[in-house]
Amino acid sequence: MNKSDIDVAIETSGLVKVFGEKRAVDGVDLTVPAGTVYGVLGPNGAGKTTTVKMLATLLRPDGGEARVFGHEVSREPDAVRARVSLTGQYASVDEDLSGTENLVLLGRLLGYRKPAARDRAAQMLEAFGLSDAADRQVKTYSGGMRRRLDIAASILSTPDVLFLDEPTTGLDPRSRNQVWEIVRAIVAQGTTVLLTTQYLEEADRLASRIAVIDSGRVIAEGTPGELKASVGAGAVHLRLRDPEQRAEAERVLERVLGVPVQREADPVALSARVLTEVADGGVAEQAARALAELAGNGIRVDDFSLGQPSLDEAFLALTGTPADDGAGDGVPGRVSGSGTDEDAADRARHTMEQGAGV
Ligand SMILES: Nc1ncnc2c1ncn2[C@@H]1O[C@H](COP(=O)(O)OP(=O)(O)OP(=O)(O)O)[C@@H](O)[C@H]1O
Ligand SMILES: [Mg+2]
Repeated sequence: MNKSDIDVAIETSGLVKVFGEKRAVDGVDLTVPAGTVYGVLGPNGAGKTTTVKMLATLLRPDGGEARVFGHEVSREPDAVRARVSLTGQYASVDEDLSGTENLVLLGRLLGYRKPAARDRAAQMLEAFGLSDAADRQVKTYSGGMRRRLDIAASILSTPDVLFLDEPTTGLDPRSRNQVWEIVRAIVAQGTTVLLTTQYLEEADRLASRIAVIDSGRVIAEGTPGELKASVGAGAVHLRLRDPEQRAEAERVLERVLGVPVQREADPVALSARVLTEVADGGVAEQAARALAELAGNGIRVDDFSLGQPSLDEAFLALTGTPADDGAGDGVPGRVSGSGTDEDAADRARHTMEQGAGV
């Protein structure tokens, strides 16, 4: 498909942001199709938040261009602000107010009359599973509840583009799933979501396209499948009926696949990484041949699976550094590193500007 045939929500070319000596964003080109979730995946300090802030007009680019539905962020910031909403990396709601009070206040800033603001707040709290906590101060909320309230606040009036900056960092798996469901529902209603994440699984699950960024540059871009395919590896896993046959199975597999075979801790399990380049006729055919050879040698196979490489493996191949160095917070698939600060004033200003723009 030609680029001009796609409805484009966000387009950047050569986007740059410099802090002193540091080129936090160093020539980023992005094309985000409208009505989709677009994932920006990268480790700490990659430049995700800085990119999002430029797109949301909270930071002025030092070079390049960025358009949101055709409006250039530096030249037409008001037009951009009228169409976007941002959920920042850290919670932006007022801790001393209740969930209802936060949303009613924001609704009023967005131009709702008081009864309408109350209705909308109640509706959102219900939709986000926060009705029971509606009248409690936000400081008594769990991290997951706070995150949901944050997202509710940013979609109080339906934006054309929603920036979600690491919406699930620090959440437990259940809360993370709830946020994923919310994101899917938001996109189903036509909003374009640009989501930054350090979780490879999250980008894989939610995004229809992903840009991998590292040190302020896009190092890979494509659908999750394309990114995995570009890394060029899949993995076969199999379990035998009889552990006595494992050595024999290992020999057969090594011969057919032409790659080293790993013995798993389970005495009947074997696995092997299949490289696309060496695979004769594709990974699936290679795997089929291996299965036939095993059967031909009287080896009973109970379970066989052929997996695409994970995004973790893709990240390792693309950056040369593991996606999880084991020094992080113990969350699998998380890209570890050092933390950065967030500018609360920016968020407050944005909230105010958004309200004023309606
Ligand atoms: N206001 C600032 N002043 C100076 N340096 C900054 C500023 N904001 C960001 N940086 C630097 O720019 C780089 C990119 O930061 P950014 O916050 O965009 O990364 P990130 O990808 O969002 O990381 P994280 O996953 O930790 O949120 C980092 O090296 C950071 O220290
Ligand atoms: Mg960030």
